[in-house]
Amino acid sequence: RARKETMGPAPSGMKALKHEAATCTRCPIGPCATQVVWGEGPETADLMIVGEQPGDQEDLAGRPFVGPAGTLLDKVMQEAGVQRDEAYLTNAVKHFKFSPRGKRRVHERPNAGEVQACKWWLDQEIARVRPRAAIALGATAALALTGSGERITRRRGTIEAGTGGLPVFLTIHPAFILRIPDKERAAEERRRFVEDLSIVRETL
Ligand code: URA
Repeated sequence: RARKETMGPAPSGMKALKHEAATCTRCPIGPCATQVVWGEGPETADLMIVGEQPGDQEDLAGRPFVGPAGTLLDKVMQEAGVQRDEAYLTNAVKHFKFSPRGKRRVHERPNAGEVQACKWWLDQEIARVRPRAAIALGATAALALTGSGERITRRRGTIEAGTGGLPVFLTIHPAFILRIPDKERAAEERRRFVEDLSIVRETL
């Protein structure tokens, strides 16, 4: 079967791209997911925010960041003065990767090959939105945007050059905060996350 790479140039409009991504076979994740979860937000946005991949709820809703991590992201953005509806929100990987465990679908991290395969779509989004800056939420987004898989803890709060020189601000993924069992530590990480997003708002 013909692979997408051999199927000619990218469709031009964002809607057509999303439609095309729905049947993507560049990696094995797509056919297992409910639907493609494409980016959302104004195509004229100055800021692009990139997560890892849709979660369980995003997969069902077909929209990015509508689950618990998205709710936290919304609150933190609000506190930092970054408007969600002014940013373009998307993910490094556009389909939900999971392993079934009983009735639950347990999130599985996409591997480097899958991130690489899906970067083609992310690059298409970047080319259309042409943001002034991007925020990488966590290691997967950082890998997709900068090509470097180095630990996020060492790079957090810094700006690296992405595709075509796009400034990429690196920070943690909100799901990381949700996984911290200690309340005080979680609160401290949340505070730092607000601080990170405030820096982006001030420098953009
Ligand atoms: N986590 C992500 O990285 N992206 C989403 O859309 C939801 C949760």
